[in-house]
Amino acid sequence: MLKVVVCVSGGGTNLQAILDAVSAGKITNTEIAAVISNNPGAKALERAKNAGVEGICMSPKTYESRAAFNKAFTEKLTELNPDLIVLAGFLVRIPEETVHLFSNRIVNIHPSLIPSFCGVGYYGLTVHEKALERGVKVTGATVHFVNEGMDEGPIIAQKAVAVEDGDTPEVLQRRVMEQAEWILLPQAIDDIANGRIRVVDNHVCRASRD
Ligand code: GAR
Repeated sequence: MLKVVVCVSGGGTNLQAILDAVSAGKITNTEIAAVISNNPGAKALERAKNAGVEGICMSPKTYESRAAFNKAFTEKLTELNPDLIVLAGFLVRIPEETVHLFSNRIVNIHPSLIPSFCGVGYYGLTVHEKALERGVKVTGATVHFVNEGMDEGPIIAQKAVAVEDGDTPEVLQRRVMEQAEWILLPQAIDDIANGRIRVVDNHVCRASRD
């Protein structure tokens, strides 16, 4: 059984997609053990509670320094001892010590086709604003392992989504979620839980799902 901790910051629609996929048997061999939010008001914490999953709030703002937060965050994860950490809209940079401790055991969902529109400052709605500003005709989402860089780890899966005339950032964000994020992230967790994913030389090898 893959023990998963999901880290969130806001609405938690990706968390919901994961919880629903576990209930529906689309993600197997997986237990969502806890949800960590940096934001006490995150709707995601409500979603965790409704699903009977432990919700933990850890905000860098309540620590005297970022180093103190990083230490507490790493200690909390060590105590929870997950097989996989899922960053589902988690807007806090993962401490380097956590990345090293959980090497190839942290995955992130990003709302663009990496390496476009990613890196420092690209998160949430901003990503879609920038894609529209640039006038791209295709965008999408990416699930990747987390390394020391920002959105730079080995790519697990990507899905393209069309940009349509008249899109606003909000409309595009919703389409990317519906057509890509809520599908890719549960699939990646199921693939990891069932041993279909390996990292070789910093590249992901994925066995067929059937
Ligand atoms: C999602 O679109 C996710 O891809 C994005 O934040 C949103 C969270 O929504 N993550 C990033 O931008 C990370 N760089 P949610 O809380 O409803 O799942």
